[in-house]
Amino acid sequence: MKDKVAIVCGSSKGMGKAIAEEFVMRGAKVTICARNEEELMETLRFLTFKAVNELHDKGAPERIIAVPADVRDYSSMKRLVEETVDAFGTVHVLVNNAGGPPAGYFEDFTDEDWYNAIDLSFMSAVRMIRLVSPYMKKQKWGRIINMTSMSVKQPLDNLILSNSIRLAVVGLAKTLAGQWAKYGITINNIAPGPIKTERIEELSRAKAERENIDYETALREWIEQVPMGRFGKPEEVAKLAAFLASEDAAFITGTTIQIDGGAVKFVL
Ligand SMILES: NC(=O)c1ccc[n+]([C@@H]2O[C@H](COP(=O)([O-])OP(=O)(O)OC[C@H]3O[C@@H](n4cnc5c(N)ncnc54)[C@H](OP(=O)(O)O)[C@@H]3O)[C@@H](O)[C@H]2O)c1
Repeated sequence: MKDKVAIVCGSSKGMGKAIAEEFVMRGAKVTICARNEEELMETLRFLTFKAVNELHDKGAPERIIAVPADVRDYSSMKRLVEETVDAFGTVHVLVNNAGGPPAGYFEDFTDEDWYNAIDLSFMSAVRMIRLVSPYMKKQKWGRIINMTSMSVKQPLDNLILSNSIRLAVVGLAKTLAGQWAKYGITINNIAPGPIKTERIEELSRAKAERENIDYETALREWIEQVPMGRFGKPEEVAKLAAFLASEDAAFITGTTIQIDGGAVKFVL
């Protein structure tokens, strides 16, 4: 990925952070973003320190930037792309990622909750793709990677917002993959199973409270769905993202790749 320019959305922690780290260590120029500015700057310092120390890359401070932004807000997304292009000249790789919609059942949610989830998990991808695709089309090279969930293959019981809205991302990716292959742009979705991040801790706390069980039991219930018998690691997801972003993955487009320790039970 040397000298490729990547924007990784939702990257101050969790899988987004691990993906940004993997891209940085493979030599890419990387823009990270998140809403909480303090945590984002902490991640920027961490990534820069790592590249300088482990790669002996004195230029690392110039090839990693951080832009505080909310993927639900078009003007901050526009700024994210503009600042990336000002710093690095173009965009080659886009990772669409953010927090997930809240857990709950159909009866729990109002129209406003549904529209918020659509903004967070679907319109964010539409808007970011609209902003970066002119650069990708012009240079005839692009990689778009959408972080979705194993729920696009197998609905998760108390995650109706995620189960419903993430499928729109899959439809979007599949449609654009066919239409934009001629520009050398690939579009793929990563569908993680339970990965040990703050999101899974947050979902487990919500489940423990709702079902009146303890937090450790709620965590264990995730692992019980996974034949590998453990949570996935954000770094494992990052390796998959780096492969999809690479030249080697040029013939892979329109796919949804599970990374779930075998949790999804469907054959296809
Ligand atoms: N962990 C899992 O097991 C798992 C499995 C399947 C799918 N997923 C999905 O994969 C995605 C990433 O999960 P994760 O576990 O890595 O989450 P995480 O640890 O909670 O990290 C989420 C990251 O996104 C940022 N973010 C959240 N909302 C944002 C917004 N509106 N605009 C910009 N940045 C935002 C967060 O920072 P700020 O809060 O400061 O903005 C943080 O950096 C989520 O959509 C999640 O639902 C997770």
